[in-house]
Amino acid sequence: MKVLVVGGGGREHALVWKLSQSPVVERIYCAPGNPGIAQLAECVPLAADDLDGLAAFAEKYGIDLTVVGPEIPLVMGIADLFKKRGLALFGPEAGAALLEGSKAFSKKMMREKDIPTASFAVFDDADAARAYITDYEDFPVVLKADGLAAGKGVLICADKAEALRGVDRILADKSFGNAGNTLVVEQFIRGDELSLFVLTDGRRYLILPPAQDHKKIGEGDTGANTGGMGAYAPAPSGDKTLLRKVAAQVIEPTLEAMRDMGHPYRGLLYVGLIIRDGIPWVLEYNCRFGDPETQAVLPLIEDDLAPVFLQIARGKLETEKLAVAAQCAFDVVLASGGYPEAFQKGHVIQGLKDVADDVLCFHAGTVLKEGQLRTAGGRVLNIVALAEDFPAAAGKAYEAIGKIHFKDMYYRRDIGYKILEK
Ligand code: GLY
Repeated sequence: MKVLVVGGGGREHALVWKLSQSPVVERIYCAPGNPGIAQLAECVPLAADDLDGLAAFAEKYGIDLTVVGPEIPLVMGIADLFKKRGLALFGPEAGAALLEGSKAFSKKMMREKDIPTASFAVFDDADAARAYITDYEDFPVVLKADGLAAGKGVLICADKAEALRGVDRILADKSFGNAGNTLVVEQFIRGDELSLFVLTDGRRYLILPPAQDHKKIGEGDTGANTGGMGAYAPAPSGDKTLLRKVAAQVIEPTLEAMRDMGHPYRGLLYVGLIIRDGIPWVLEYNCRFGDPETQAVLPLIEDDLAPVFLQIARGKLETEKLAVAAQCAFDVVLASGGYPEAFQKGHVIQGLKDVADDVLCFHAGTVLKEGQLRTAGGRVLNIVALAEDFPAAAGKAYEAIGKIHFKDMYYRRDIGYKILEK
């Protein structure tokens, strides 16, 4: 089968890497891809949000399956467009992708279905939101721009003054553009975060090994939020007891709600959880694989995912179980100095060829220029190692990182610190 992967980051490199091992996949294209992906697939110069261009490409090149990485094309309706044109695509239609596309929509759905989630209020009007915050007592409080804001639309406000400024940033100043036309104000819940990936046709589902992301830029989970600075899987907090609760209290009611609304969820449902006192509270849903969690999760899956994606794209998940390696996967993100604020690009990346063969280097923000691999984004590379336990996997990943260099390279040296300390 011919496969088209949409996107060009570390997540898509991991997807292409996994699909490239499939005996049923004869050719992979990736739009737009990156230099790492180009070693496994043919990269095509189409942007991930060029829906018409992607559909025309899939028709012209006889693509049997399109797998979408990022959320934007899904929320824009790429699955609807491909369906109309009779093209198989793995990813939810726009009505289902709203679970990520609108935080107010997903919070209201959770409230209706009694899914554990923080209490919240929704506002379109800045004066009403200010009045609500003025009477609010339970700080910190979370402010979320309703729509997609490239992972930046969430503010955790320590006190009333900060929260009032946050309301103005989102609703009045439109710092996150139209994503901030609506504001969700949410209770802050402390606990352990967990990322859970669910492959589903809207009714049947498979849960992938749970992962833990590190969203903060600084060690000890401090500083600004990023797209994610590292991840590991399977996260020990996602044990069998917890996963049974998540299935019953979160996944099944969510899928039922989407079916009842006439938008069955077909694709990868990412459930962002916070675990407190054994209760899986839903922080958010995403309508696509997480980045960098995917880079740690996919290397653990022993079975071929191409047939699973195709079954879901055709509307019926038939695979009942996926074989998972009894190993631990550890991913450290190498970022450009300054990220997630302003950073320089174009620095030469050295040392990748010295990394041990059993360590995976998934490219995120890289470019080939004048024959040299250079930095081209905030998150540049993911270094992923597998081993029989987390200390060994972490040791392998950090040893590999010791061989890689680019100017101002930054990475967290404490990925997995909570489990490694134990
Ligand atoms: N790692 C967080 C995300 O993909 O949204």
